Amino acid sequence: MSEKRYASSAVGKPLRGEAIVGKRPCALVTGASGGLGAEIARVLAQKDFDLLLVARNENKLQVLKEELEAAHGIEVQTFPCDLAREDAALDVYDYVLGRDLRIDALVNNAGFGDSGAFHEADWSRQRNMVQVNVVAMMQLTRLLVPHMVERGCGMVLNLSSVAAFSAGPYMSIYYATKAFVLSFSEALFEELADTGATVTALCPGPTATGFEASASMGSGSAMFRHAASAAGVAREGCEAMKKGKAVCLQSAFTKAMAFGSRLVPRSVARKLAMRMNR
Ligand SMILES: NC(=O)c1ccc[n+]([C@@H]2O[C@H](COP(=O)([O-])OP(=O)(O)OC[C@H]3O[C@@H](n4cnc5c(N)ncnc54)[C@H](OP(=O)(O)O)[C@@H]3O)[C@@H](O)[C@H]2O)c1
Repeated sequence: MSEKRYASSAVGKPLRGEAIVGKRPCALVTGASGGLGAEIARVLAQKDFDLLLVARNENKLQVLKEELEAAHGIEVQTFPCDLAREDAALDVYDYVLGRDLRIDALVNNAGFGDSGAFHEADWSRQRNMVQVNVVAMMQLTRLLVPHMVERGCGMVLNLSSVAAFSAGPYMSIYYATKAFVLSFSEALFEELADTGATVTALCPGPTATGFEASASMGSGSAMFRHAASAAGVAREGCEAMKKGKAVCLQSAFTKAMAFGSRLVPRSVARKLAMRMNR
């Protein structure tokens, strides 16, 4: 059933229209109802992008739409959607096709973590994490990148994390999903060289958003004591996407973690991560 829908979804065909209105570029941002996604939407709105905002919380999307349209005179559309649902990305894509939108920038930001022992955690939450952090990200990229290649331009920004650089006991699936995002994005960056389309992996360190609470890490965890501001991370991420960088190691902490994890044995890196996560 889902394969049939996928096959019938005009994958690879160029979208007919220009941007939503006039000649402004258009960005699709997932997880735009708060945290980094909302800040990324604000940065892109300042840069005169029209926006298609996706997340589950319809009210928050609507409030952000009104804020950005009033402040920047851009057009913002919202598509409330649970990306944990199998093939939810196809619904987003059908909306894009139905409205004749040309997506110039795809920001795969939606994601969440969970803290605790793997064997004790709730299975449906674990499965949903892989679905949102990995499958929806991969599927939206698969659906929209062919259009970018066809046009010879387009940008993808995928939210990875400092967690991508080692195994993460007590947040095992989250770390693994972010390693997937980084590896996948880097590989695609190379595949797409010379097509005009670029893929950037943004790897933030701890950032002040709703992440810590939704991952059940307990407020004020040591890791988040010096969390970066979401607005700053969003600015750096958008700048890296605009420059077509492969990887954006946001903050000195992230750079130290990325390089440090190469200098120490993997067994040491994962034990350090375990101490931070427990
Ligand atoms: N904050 C950090 O320290 C940090 C560090 C590195 C990487 N990141 C990554 O940054 C990204 C954004 O996270 P954040 O820090 O901004 O956390 P956040 O404040 O909790 O925001 C998460 C966003 O993802 C959306 N989302 C979650 N589940 C969803 C689902 N099933 N369907 C659709 N949307 C969903 C949420 O919207 P709804 O609830 O409305 O659906 C929300 O807009 C994530 O990929 C995260 O892994 C965060």
